[in-house]
Amino acid sequence: MKQHIEASASYLKQQFGEAPKIGLILGSGLGVLADEIEGAVRVPYESIPNFPVSTVEGHAGQLVFGTLQGVTVVAMQGRFHYYEGYDMQKVTFPVRVMKELGVETVVVTNAAGGVNTSFEPGDLMLISDHLNFIGNNPLIGPNDGALGVRFPDMSEAYSRELRQLAKGAADGLGISVQEGVYVGMSGPTYETPAEIRMLRTLGGDAVGMSTVPEVIVARHAGLKVLGISCISNMAAGILDQPLNHEEVIETTERVKANFLALVKEIVRQMK
Ligand code: HPA
Repeated sequence: MKQHIEASASYLKQQFGEAPKIGLILGSGLGVLADEIEGAVRVPYESIPNFPVSTVEGHAGQLVFGTLQGVTVVAMQGRFHYYEGYDMQKVTFPVRVMKELGVETVVVTNAAGGVNTSFEPGDLMLISDHLNFIGNNPLIGPNDGALGVRFPDMSEAYSRELRQLAKGAADGLGISVQEGVYVGMSGPTYETPAEIRMLRTLGGDAVGMSTVPEVIVARHAGLKVLGISCISNMAAGILDQPLNHEEVIETTERVKANFLALVKEIVRQMK
């Protein structure tokens, strides 16, 4: 595994000389943030040795290197989901490569269903913690001590300090943000109303089909994590209407400006 990571990273270092400080993982409909990166060097996933290739609509499938607010970043425009059939090692491989490239902090974003009934579609939520309901864990299997410890601590998976910084940035911009627990499900079905009631009872505020594996691997690798969910719809059973991917994309489209402004301000303040 370490050799695969190093091979990907060394290819990427040939494409872009500087070490990125922040890694951005952009969720469904949120990939536009990568278009704001200056001096962009775009590297399609299929050209990177050992990289998986993305298939879902609304995901471009490339790494974008460059500068955002004066900070050197690398963004994943399009991510790999467990429901696409990638194993957990593939889903999280890009996070390993980011670490190898010198990234210190990852900002993970996603579109998610609102489980907390006080939320509204279009809200942004800072992730305070997660529930792993994916039914798997990317660290199952032999542990490579060169990558991290056997039993990683998850008591502050989402950095309190970065959440404070993000709250301050949102306040400064006049953007209101929610804060809560993200539940990772495998998908690809949306949840049933009974599942959503269960998740709410168990302390979930938002639900989605990504993020948890990447955050587990980021913590294993010693990276700091900030997570932001865009509440793209109310989860199943809350409103008397079916769920669909179009609604998810429409809502993220609508809140794009706020989302972009917030992440850019956060990155600027992380300098
Ligand atoms: N459930 C799971 N994943 C999602 C949802 C949802 O309601 N909305 C966006 N991603």
